[in-house]
Amino acid sequence: MSDRTYLGFDIGTSSIKALLVDAAQKIIAEANIPVSISRPHPLWSEQDPEEWWQACLKAVAHLRAEAPEAFTRLHGIGLSGQQHGAVLLDEAGRVLRPAILWNDGRCGREAEELQASLPDFVERASNIAMVGFTAPKIMWVKRHEPEIFAKTKKILLPKDYIRFRLSGEYVQEMSDAGGTLWHDVAGRRWDDTLLAAGGIDRSYVGRLVEGSEAAALLSDTLCREWGLKPSSVTIAGGAGDNAAAAVGIGAVKGGEGILSMGTSGVLFAVTDRLVTKPHRALNAMCHALPNRWHVMGVTLSAASALSWFAETIGRGDKVGDLIAEVEAFAAHADQRRHAPIFVPYLTGERTPHNDPEANGIFAGIRAQHGAVAMAYAVMEGVAFCFADDFDVLADAHAGLQSCFLVGGGARSRFWGQMLADVINFPLDLPDGAETGGAQGAARLGMLASGAGTEAEICIKPGVKLRYQPNSEGPSIYGERLARFRALYRGERSMRGL
Ligand code: XUL
Repeated sequence: MSDRTYLGFDIGTSSIKALLVDAAQKIIAEANIPVSISRPHPLWSEQDPEEWWQACLKAVAHLRAEAPEAFTRLHGIGLSGQQHGAVLLDEAGRVLRPAILWNDGRCGREAEELQASLPDFVERASNIAMVGFTAPKIMWVKRHEPEIFAKTKKILLPKDYIRFRLSGEYVQEMSDAGGTLWHDVAGRRWDDTLLAAGGIDRSYVGRLVEGSEAAALLSDTLCREWGLKPSSVTIAGGAGDNAAAAVGIGAVKGGEGILSMGTSGVLFAVTDRLVTKPHRALNAMCHALPNRWHVMGVTLSAASALSWFAETIGRGDKVGDLIAEVEAFAAHADQRRHAPIFVPYLTGERTPHNDPEANGIFAGIRAQHGAVAMAYAVMEGVAFCFADDFDVLADAHAGLQSCFLVGGGARSRFWGQMLADVINFPLDLPDGAETGGAQGAARLGMLASGAGTEAEICIKPGVKLRYQPNSEGPSIYGERLARFRALYRGERSMRGL
């Protein structure tokens, strides 16, 4: 086996992760550098791309200090990153304003205008114009900050900006491109009509490659600074963080999927052809590997809903104990049946509603209910969001056959079992440490630099535990799920919609 090493970066919203692996994918060193988020106005969510870059440099310094000799054998780099974020650059490649992120909700008006601007917009984009996506953010800048727009010459997604800093090249890739709404997802190319509808043209975006393709070389300046031979390190196309996490866990063939219980929740399935269900707010994009696509249901508050509740009742540092008490509570079927119901739309909801203004709801509270009953409702409410995502995937005939359970929330066995019962589908808990997008990024770096074939590199972990759905799931949860759905409809009609 070769002695080459590979680096995966994940440009996350809360931190930048970097992973150095050897040719057998053994982790040699890792780094995690937190980054800050700024919310200067209601609905706004921004980050400074320079802070991402400085965090990447810090992460590399950490890897070099931990594994100095292994780092000199670096051969390939892969990138994973938060999707949809807009980084605006001037002629000289300088950042013009803070990046507007995936969870920024300011451009509702522009999203509506964009979708209405072409009779076949949704068919072309394979997605509805969602507020979180990139194109409406640029239309917002054009309307509200025309002086910035006038100077804008390039618009990159977060990980593509990091590639630009690593290589000096403007390159983008298929799995993230669909989240811009400028992409022909079926044809795997930029769509000039969609670019024009968003008020830009091809000169604003980068060259498109597949995620596993070689996209650029690490610049000679950085090679020298990092003690590497010039022109010796290939940078892969990389992937949006969800597609990267799928590659990292080996979800690469049609029918393979992941349920990720992180800050947000994602149900992701690989498909052999483009599958869409835009009007139920299903994301449909390319996979990070050629000739494959993916669909994805996104729930905006998943594990974060439980952290929010735990913090609200002053138990933010003891979430594990709270879950243990919820488990004891749930052992009594009668208590469960009479528990409150919670709708966790704390920052709106993406799938199936595409409703940034939707609100969280506690309903059915009675004098006998305390914090534990309410915490139960929060965990169940998040599981119900995944039931909706699952329903949309089934409606789209996405053909999900197997599903790994990943993310921080997957550490609770109680929640894992509840999820399998609610969606009525088995969930596999992977064996070993979970490194998410960074591992997928490292794998794409390996593929792009010729370290092996997809079958050799994109292997699956063992299954530590399979959560088999309880056959009584539908009778336990069915009626409560119907009430959960009715609560949202009621809240929506109270908003006059
Ligand atoms: C996906 C999405 C989020 C971000 C989080 O459409 O908006 O999952 O990618 O980083």
